[in-house]
Amino acid sequence: MTHHKLIIGNCMSMQEIPDESVHLMLTSPPYFNAPFDYKGLFKNYDQYLGVLNRVAREVF
Ligand SMILES: C[S@@+](CC[C@H](N)C(=O)[O-])C[C@H]1O[C@@H](n2cnc3c(N)ncnc32)[C@H](O)[C@@H]1O
Repeated sequence: MTHHKLIIGNCMSMQEIPDESVHLMLTSPPYFNAPFDYKGLFKNYDQYLGVLNRVAREVF
């Protein structure tokens, strides 16, 4: 049986999910060039890339 769980949290630190328990991940990150959707979320492009990098490492 498939089990679904919704977690509202920060994808840079997914402590709710045990390591090596995920077979596939799918993401839909914010776009840096869509400030109308995420006003003030990123100070600059370097910070944006830093967030994506942290998420990629966490997922790995
Ligand atoms: C392009 S949207 C994806 C929308 C989603 N696919 C949907 O259909 O509702 C990016 C989403 O990432 C969320 N987000 C941004 N930073 C995040 C973070 N550190 N952890 C978790 N979610 C984050 C934003 O709030 C936004 O809802």
